[in-house]
Parts: sequence; C-alpha cells; structure tokens
Amino acid sequence: MFSFLNKNQSTGEVEELQLDEANIPAHVAIIMDGNGRWAQQRHLPRIAGHKQGMDTVKTVATAASHLGVKVLTLYAFSTENWKRPTAEVNYLMKLPVDFFGTFVPDLIKNNICVKVMGYTDKLPAATQKAVRDAIADTAHCTGMVLNFALNYGGRAEIVTAVQNLAEEVKAGRLDPAAIDEAAIDQRLMTADLADLRDPDLLIRTSGEERLSNFMLWQVAYSEFVFTQQHWPDFDQTALEQAIYEYQQRHRRFGGLTPAKG
Ligand code: IPE
Ligand code: IPE
Ligand code: MG
Repeated sequence: MFSFLNKNQSTGEVEELQLDEANIPAHVAIIMDGNGRWAQQRHLPRIAGHKQGMDTVKTVATAASHLGVKVLTLYAFSTENWKRPTAEVNYLMKLPVDFFGTFVPDLIKNNICVKVMGYTDKLPAATQKAVRDAIADTAHCTGMVLNFALNYGGRAEIVTAVQNLAEEVKAGRLDPAAIDEAAIDQRLMTADLADLRDPDLLIRTSGEERLSNFMLWQVAYSEFVFTQQHWPDFDQTALEQAIYEYQQRHRRFGGLTPAKG
C-alpha cells in the first residue's frame, strides 16, 4: 500500500520504493518556503504563489493523514513575516479564511483535527474567527492533528515560557530548583501535543537550509530533510520521498544503538 514511484537522481530511472508502514514519522513539521520564488519564475505576483501554496497544504495534509502521520505542523507565518509589504501580509492573513472556508468539510471527512500555535491574538479579527471556527468544527476529530504555526516564533515562544516560569516562582508556586526540561515543555505552545510534541521529521522546501526561528527547542533531535522544490510544487510523492529518506536515517539520541528511523 505504501509504495511510490521515484525518479532516481543519478540514473534518471523510475523505481518503485517501499515505505516501512511501521516507521512512519509520528510528527512531521514543514517549513513551507518558496511561494514567492515559484510565482516570480512564472512572472506572477508573489501572492499567486501563496494561493497555489494553499492548495499544496490541502494535498499534503490529506496525504500525510492517509500515510498515518499523527501530527503535521505547518509553518504558515512567522513572527518576522510582519516585515513584508502590507499588501502581502494582508493577503497572507486572508488565506486562513479562504482555506478553512473551503476545506473544513474535507478535514472532517478525513477525521483531521485543527490546532494552531502562535500569537493568534495579534491576527486580524476575521483571521482569528476563521481559526477559532476551524478548531471548534474539527474538535471531535480523532485522526491526524493539523497544527498551523501562525504568527509563531521559536524564540518568542521560549521567552513567553520563561516569563510564565518567572511569574510562578515570584508567586511562590514554583521552586527554581524544580525547573527541568519537562517544566519548559509544559509551557511551550506544543504542550498539548504531549508525547508527540517534538517533530520526528522536519522538512524545508525551496533549497534554503535554515530554521528561520521554527520550533527551536522541539527540533533538538529531529531528522532534517531539505528539498529543492518550491512549496507550491511539493506533493504527495515529495512527502513520500522525504519520509523514505527519514527511514534510511539512524536516530541515536546521543546513544550508541543505531535505532532505526
Ligand atoms: C513561504 O514562501 C510562505 C511564507 C513565508 C509566508 P515565501 O513567501 O517565503 O517565498 P520565498 O521564500 O520568498 O520564495
Ligand atoms: C520561514 O520562511 C517562515 C515560513 C515559512 C512561514 P521565510 O521565507 O520567512 O524565511 P527566511 O526569511 O528566508 O529565513
Ligand atoms: Mg521564504
């Protein structure tokens, strides 16, 4: 069931590759990059790339859910993306309204539950409402979690967690000596994902090889896969190729046993 056709990079031949169904990464996180360049290459305005990228989100979310991914986190808007021209920011803020407005019935059909992490209180009211409604409408879904990082920044997330810890110490509810990794995990935006909070596989499209402030704490032991495609060109096969690459890795977590996957 989980086999796919892959074009071998060195020979150019099409080969059938098998995914190990027992080793599908539980949490896949994607830095969806390259929308603007995809559009520019076609002499289109940057926002045309964002529109096309929204369709890719639908394709990839459905494919990930069918493959058995448990959490799919998508970096949609960073705390630094406000630096872009107002017209582009406004368009990006409208996208969740269009996306959820058309896609929630499909999400429900696929038993996909929407979550959002980020400083959503800073989003325009209509975007906040679209997000709130999508979360409420899919709250009963028990399948994959589709987790959007929206106005999210890894450093800001850590700063907020530290502020919360400091407040608790100040109020006398927390002993500084009791602050451990779990205490920090519990105050990050991924806390409610429990054991699935850390991505197993992190994918970035468009050839850029950096984190751009994404999940700095949580990716400590993630496997990274960088692909050349711009996000609007990413598809089910590209996801399967990335998972295949993940399955060839040996995760050791600092130990010596080359545990597979
Ligand atoms: C990713 O594509 C989408 C967002 C960051 C919102 P970009 O808009 O960054 O596209 P490039 O990197 O400029 O091509
Ligand atoms: C990262 O992409 C943010 C998202 C994909 C939402 P950017 O395009 O903003 O990252 P930089 O500026 O190239 O590092
Ligand atoms: Mg970019």
